[in-house]
Amino acid sequence: MTGNGIVPPSQAPWGQAGKALDGVRVLDFTHVQSGPTCTQLLAYMGADVIKVERPGVGDVTRGQLRDVPGADSLYFTMLNGNKRSITIDSKNRKGMEILERLVKICDVLVENFAPGALDRMGLTWEHVHELNPRMIMASVKGFGPGPYEDCKVYENVAQCAGGSASTTGFLGGPPLVTGAQIGDSGTGLHLALGIVSALYQRNRTGRGQRVLAAMQDGVLNLCRVKLRDQQRLTRGPLTEFSQYGQGIPFGEATPRAGNDSGGGQPGWILKCKGWETDPNAYIYFITQAPVWNEICDVIGEPEWKTHPDYATPPARLPRLKQIFDRIEQWTMTKTKFEAMDILNKYDIPCGPILSMKELAEERSLRDTGTVVEVDHPKRGKYLTVGNPIKLSDSPCEVERSPLLGEHTEEILTQVLGYSEKEIAEIRTSGAITAPEKRTAA
Ligand code: COA
Repeated sequence: MTGNGIVPPSQAPWGQAGKALDGVRVLDFTHVQSGPTCTQLLAYMGADVIKVERPGVGDVTRGQLRDVPGADSLYFTMLNGNKRSITIDSKNRKGMEILERLVKICDVLVENFAPGALDRMGLTWEHVHELNPRMIMASVKGFGPGPYEDCKVYENVAQCAGGSASTTGFLGGPPLVTGAQIGDSGTGLHLALGIVSALYQRNRTGRGQRVLAAMQDGVLNLCRVKLRDQQRLTRGPLTEFSQYGQGIPFGEATPRAGNDSGGGQPGWILKCKGWETDPNAYIYFITQAPVWNEICDVIGEPEWKTHPDYATPPARLPRLKQIFDRIEQWTMTKTKFEAMDILNKYDIPCGPILSMKELAEERSLRDTGTVVEVDHPKRGKYLTVGNPIKLSDSPCEVERSPLLGEHTEEILTQVLGYSEKEIAEIRTSGAITAPEKRTAA
């Protein structure tokens, strides 16, 4: 460090100056999806993530949607890579003693228990802050303070409460939830940003703070453009929505817009060659104004470039359905990949509807480490999603998820400094072993 407190640039080659979050130790009290998404990202960035699990049981997802008998499920393995697992019964006196020692030496505590559960365990913010004033205590909850703050919340509940479901689906149809886990994984992502920001602020203040990411808030944040439309609606109809062109009046709230694009440029999902048998033979097509002439040439309607009914975006708005029907006649003569190749030559924005099978097999995603194959002692090889955020000086090596309690002894000795004798005592206390194993021992 120089005299003015600035660290001079590392002379180490790129990617060899450690990881972004090296030295950050996370006490991971998370389970299911939202919290584990957050802590897995922190682990990918280099933090030492110590996942605390209930002896004998562990994170409930270890056993959910099992595809290989006796092995941790993909639900668990794909959300808990790069972490260490320690089993501790927080309701055991000795167990709490161990937890308090962990609190003292960790930088961040992350949890997504039901409201009040951590307090009932005895790990209130006040107690944690007293034990370790530098501790950042980060939580995912379903709702922020208010009428629903005590509710337990899962993914689809958050999608419904955060504005996603009411704005997803087709006009006239019921609200729909989306496949993207915007409530769980989306909120975990929000929480990770809160934690990293709190770590940065701690460099200045020397103290930790609480970080809260409520799932309703996270979903609403991702639905920001729909709240934008809600306000625009008070000033008149939303002209870029298909329903405007179809002459269907708007109600009081942002409507469901099918596959309309969320921006000012009309878009829709169109059939491609093979759609009759392949449910994903479709392409998203945007009739972006600056490339309208190119679109007309590609689909074989050159006169639309100058025709008063088609030449300008406002003229096209009432005719969008007819325009997309015509474009679809063209896309149906090409596979989605052929259409991509042709349209991209003219910078016409489009995107193939890729199936999970296609994504799993996509070479470029393997090459960038976004889709990674890892080996697991119980289930063998499996695919996971690596770090979707790439840092040029902090490469990510994806490791398999830990077995339940795989690192219990390692953490007790190497991290907490317990002696062999103390560990033997801990073992008989029941703090780290499941009740049935205690009797057997
Ligand atoms: N040792 C002993 N007890 C433990 C333990 C450990 N290591 N880890 C957890 N427990 C206990 C908790 O203390 C709690 O006990 P209590 O209710 O007696 O106080 C109990 O396990 C269960 O915790 P809880 O969070 O209530 O689990 P749940 O299965 O009933 O609810 C959720 C699951 C996800 C609905 C709930 O945790 C929740 O709403 N979380 C916040 C929102 C969220 O993240 N939702 C999305 C999940 S993907």
